[in-house]
Amino acid sequence: MNKEQQWWWPLALDEELGGQPLAVTLLNQRLVLWRDAQGQAVLMSDQCPHRGARLSLGQVHGNAIECPYHGWRFDPQGACVSIPALPGFTPPAGHKACRHPVMEQHGLIWGAVGDAAFAPPALPELPERRLIYGPFDVATSAPRAVENFLDTAHFAYVHRGWLGEAGHPEVPHYEVTHTPDGRPVIEAYKAWQPRATASSTEGGWVTYRYEVLSPYSALLSKQPDDGGPQDSYTIWARPDTDESCRLWFAQYTSDATSTDEQLRDFQVTIFSQDQPVLESQAPKRLPLSGGEVHSAADRLSAAYRRYLQQTGVSFGVC
Ligand code: FES
Ligand SMILES: [Fe+2]
Repeated sequence: MNKEQQWWWPLALDEELGGQPLAVTLLNQRLVLWRDAQGQAVLMSDQCPHRGARLSLGQVHGNAIECPYHGWRFDPQGACVSIPALPGFTPPAGHKACRHPVMEQHGLIWGAVGDAAFAPPALPELPERRLIYGPFDVATSAPRAVENFLDTAHFAYVHRGWLGEAGHPEVPHYEVTHTPDGRPVIEAYKAWQPRATASSTEGGWVTYRYEVLSPYSALLSKQPDDGGPQDSYTIWARPDTDESCRLWFAQYTSDATSTDEQLRDFQVTIFSQDQPVLESQAPKRLPLSGGEVHSAADRLSAAYRRYLQQTGVSFGVC
């Protein structure tokens, strides 16, 4: 079993999944999400056990998903409950769609395609106001996207006038520590930012905290030194293929004055600055075994790569 199969992965926003099936790609596999009659999410392989048609092209009827090809219906456990071509026939237990573990957490639906030994990442106590941005489909690997989220040396270039400025490209010394289970952390990173948050009216010092949460997710918290709103952001990356991913950013903020639209516009602007550079990186897989050079300013990225090596993930890396 690949190491990736031990993790839970974000698949879709809770609110994206309505009354009809939703096709998702995860780890090169086609999956389908739907909701049963109780509204619970169900995750299955997007392949009918009869002749392989995509169940996501079918429809949900009550407590079953109906295949678009011959109309076989499958209940939330995957059991075939109806074969319309044989009225009155009770399908045997072997006529089963392949079902996978699924749960809802942090405003997203999470799924697993293996033994899911590790739970979805836990979050510390964060401000209650939560907004989730995305999905963003990005033409690079999930770990490239997460490494970019952890990278501070690009602020003065990619986010000039926002999170950094030309006159201050320096990355002050910082220490990387690790959680007991080996995830990299920076407890305090100081940056001067022209426009640190949606409500900023002038530049100021900001203290960041970074924590890698799982192979393809991370949390950053930023607190302006002038006592402005505390913001925490998670990046949730769904590794669709080795070289493409879908991202969501969740913001947890104590900002009580900015509107949802102002907060969203700020984050969408920041990511629109990241995306072209991120998609330009070659190779799209994150090199773990050489091929790129580091500086002392890249300490957190280097720690993230070592952590990935330790977890043994093989998807999206090279
Ligand atoms: S392929 Fe699904 S019912 Fe035949
Ligand atoms: Fe960035």
